[in-house]
Amino acid sequence: MDWLKRIKRSKDARIQANPELATEIRRSFEAAASDEAHFPSVIDERIQHVRVVIEHMRTASTGVILDVGSGKGRFAAVVKRHYPQAHVVAFDLAGAMLASAPASLSRVCGSMLEIPFASSSVSGALAIESLEHAVDIDRALDEICRVLKPGGHLVIIDKNAEHWGRLQTPHWEKWFHRADLEDRLRKRCSSVSSRLISYWDDVEPDGLFLGWFAVK
Ligand SMILES: C[S@@+](CC[C@H](N)C(=O)[O-])C[C@H]1O[C@@H](n2cnc3c(N)ncnc32)[C@H](O)[C@@H]1O
Repeated sequence: MDWLKRIKRSKDARIQANPELATEIRRSFEAAASDEAHFPSVIDERIQHVRVVIEHMRTASTGVILDVGSGKGRFAAVVKRHYPQAHVVAFDLAGAMLASAPASLSRVCGSMLEIPFASSSVSGALAIESLEHAVDIDRALDEICRVLKPGGHLVIIDKNAEHWGRLQTPHWEKWFHRADLEDRLRKRCSSVSSRLISYWDDVEPDGLFLGWFAVK
């Protein structure tokens, strides 16, 4: 497969400096895979997070779509149902998460700090509540945008730093200020926007979730 090429890159400096942290994060999510209540394998398609992803992956509907930090692939599975011609890849650090992903998806285990895909090989990418665990955010964005084709769409949904403290978080987790992540994306993509996201159409966003949208 063209898109799956292991490329040689130097390891991320922070993870290299702290391999214990990388191991801790991976082990934590391997263990969390059995916690279906907090890490569900399915999602209601009416939830805005899902609909936003579907809308932004439309242009990639016949190409490769990469779900970065897919967990059990609940978003990827819906994308595949909507765009059956797409080659949808669930990509995650934790093999135990991927073990629950449906067979309709390709499953690839690895880190978003070193995505084992060829440059410009992916037509669309999504990262839902996963960038917050990347530790080296710029490195992860470099990698996601490297594998994205020019014109490819990227959707990131993550938590709003203005609401930091509202939930319990592991010590490595980071939330994002809207303008800060927009700026980081503008360094790598041509078209960038963001907005607050609610779960349901008839409920005003409570500010916790933000969606960032970019075109490379
Ligand atoms: C909160 S879960 C979200 C999963 C999925 N996106 C969803 O919404 O159901 C975060 C996921 O990111 C993965 N993850 C954390 N760090 C990662 C990394 N460096 N590279 C790839 N995946 C990572 C975890 O293993 C976990 O499955």
